[in-house]
Amino acid sequence: MNEAVFIPDSYTKTLENGQVSWQSPSNIALVKYWGKYGEQLPKNASISFTLQNCNTKTSLSFNVKDSDGFDFEVYLDGKREIGFEPKILKFFERVEMYLPFLKSYKFKIETSNSFPHSSGIASSASGMSALALCLMSIERKLVDGGISDENFNQKASFLARLGSGSACRSIDGDLIVWGEHSDIEGSSNLFGTKYPHLVHENFKNFQDTILLVDKGEKQVSSTVGHNLMYNHPFAETRFRQAEENLSKLIPVFESGDLSAFIEIVESEALSLHAMMLTSLPYFVLMKPNTLEIINKIWAFRAKSGSKICFTLDAGANVHVLFPEVEKEMVSEFIKRELAEFCKNGEFIEDQVGFGAKKI
Ligand code: PMV
Repeated sequence: MNEAVFIPDSYTKTLENGQVSWQSPSNIALVKYWGKYGEQLPKNASISFTLQNCNTKTSLSFNVKDSDGFDFEVYLDGKREIGFEPKILKFFERVEMYLPFLKSYKFKIETSNSFPHSSGIASSASGMSALALCLMSIERKLVDGGISDENFNQKASFLARLGSGSACRSIDGDLIVWGEHSDIEGSSNLFGTKYPHLVHENFKNFQDTILLVDKGEKQVSSTVGHNLMYNHPFAETRFRQAEENLSKLIPVFESGDLSAFIEIVESEALSLHAMMLTSLPYFVLMKPNTLEIINKIWAFRAKSGSKICFTLDAGANVHVLFPEVEKEMVSEFIKRELAEFCKNGEFIEDQVGFGAKKI
């Protein structure tokens, strides 16, 4: 399959104005995407849990216009946010050939996140996927006979990817693969696909408590971060490692072997940070409290036999992952021993979710 399948035939219906709204979740990668080529194509396959509570709600109002060019305004929590507009403009330019109606309307994009804006949680995955879904809802109204749900989701994921790579894993749930992988049938560099193999009960409703260690602006934007992988001395080995880790996860998901899961997931998180430690320029994105938390998790696991583990994004916050059966025990532990390492003691309790919803 190539990009051309996402270029629509000319629209058969017309539409003066309207409004569409979607709620779309964030996701947390277990095997990380870090390094891209071409137009937002991943250098290795990745897999993520879709989340449930961390999400973005976006409403898109549209009015037909005669003038040329793109015309839109962005509002965050009811207030105009011109700071977001260059990113949206770039996105519109990238996707225009796939959504030829974009220049025919004036848009108002109203968005809000379930998590605090200053939490250090990236809103690009949930935000870009919500916007892509709203645009697809408009396209659906312009096509006689509509668009099947499968094609709708696939194109929404394709468009979201062009906004922010990992956003393509936020359309559906609960385990999503992005990037061609020989062991995952149907996997594609162009969009996210549902993980197709057996998943053991142990992973159902898996929990993710996000510890907010550092709530500031990201020290390294993901654009800068991905670019660090060009000419990186360990790049090829890293891409191979990620591919192998995804292969290793397949029997782990099937058998429910949580010890093997922990080893792969924590190694992936540390490898991602190792790439930043060893790039030029180099970055240390963990904070002292990130390490305090990791050590506490390891000590608790050794003492209690719990199957708790951690993963990290490109920042200092820690995602604490654990099976649902341990919810009471681990929540207690987090409050007792980890909350003190969070900014203002703040953390967000989340769990695996099943994808975006039309609202
Ligand atoms: O989607 P981007 O370009 O913001 O990159 C996200 C990269 C990581 O979050 C660090 C890893 C991942 O696979 O989500």
